[in-house]
Amino acid sequence: MLITAEKVGATVSDVDVRQLDHDGARQLAQAWADHGVLFFHDQELTPDDHITFAERFATIDVNKFFKAVDTHPQIATVLKEADQEGNIGGAWHTDHTYDQIPARGSILLAREVPPTGGDTRFADVGAAFDALSPGLQKTLESLHAVHSNEHVFGKASDYSKRDDRLGNPDGVGSATHPVVIAHPQTGRKLLYVNMAFTLHFVGWSVEESAPLLQYLYEHVGQDQFTTQFSWNVGSIAMWDNRSTWHWALNDYPGYRRLMHRITISGDPLAAAAGASS
Ligand code: OGA
Ligand code: MN
Repeated sequence: MLITAEKVGATVSDVDVRQLDHDGARQLAQAWADHGVLFFHDQELTPDDHITFAERFATIDVNKFFKAVDTHPQIATVLKEADQEGNIGGAWHTDHTYDQIPARGSILLAREVPPTGGDTRFADVGAAFDALSPGLQKTLESLHAVHSNEHVFGKASDYSKRDDRLGNPDGVGSATHPVVIAHPQTGRKLLYVNMAFTLHFVGWSVEESAPLLQYLYEHVGQDQFTTQFSWNVGSIAMWDNRSTWHWALNDYPGYRRLMHRITISGDPLAAAAGASS
């Protein structure tokens, strides 16, 4: 197994993830925590193989809003039909931050890809945090933010009516997290806000929070903190929701794209050491 660092994340080659031994699984778990996102190609996994691979890392966290594979409720389908306009994840975001204990990350496996396009972008929120000035870092470390999914998946949302969603408006919820968290495995400081689910800083109004949040979103999205992954059938991206953001590009009108996603349960989040709470 070869692990090659990329600008964001790392590519894992010379590996068949069905054949991992104990040491190989440990090495991958470490690389996942260290690099934030791991990329693989040419993996021939059945749905059962996909589940077995995911369970090498932790238990599975079943998404409350995505349709599952009929035969395998642990696997969510991330699907865009040829005649569909919107896609899932079509802006910078990270998943499940509205949960008290947000998911660690996902193992996304490509089943059908368009002839061109349909890449996914990834951003490194640790490198982006490190590049901020010490004054802003300190301010952010003193803050918490409220995250919710009600505007995305709730009764009033468009998404709850979409075909690619379960439509489960009662599954909505919210949570408060530090704006700068320590990665549960590496201790690295990470900016933990995102465009999809962060509403405002605790003690600040939505209007007051918006300019600083917007500044952070533009900062993280800069070229030096991001990469773009191209999929073939059998490619896998395995991302950490704490240390990365992702964005599914929607640039393949008229083609179908089908991914299978297994989401891995996370750990309680804590503020980075030295931050006030
Ligand atoms: C997701 C997601 C990205 C993609 O599954 O959470 O955002 O490229 N998918 O499909
Ligand atoms: Mn996502």
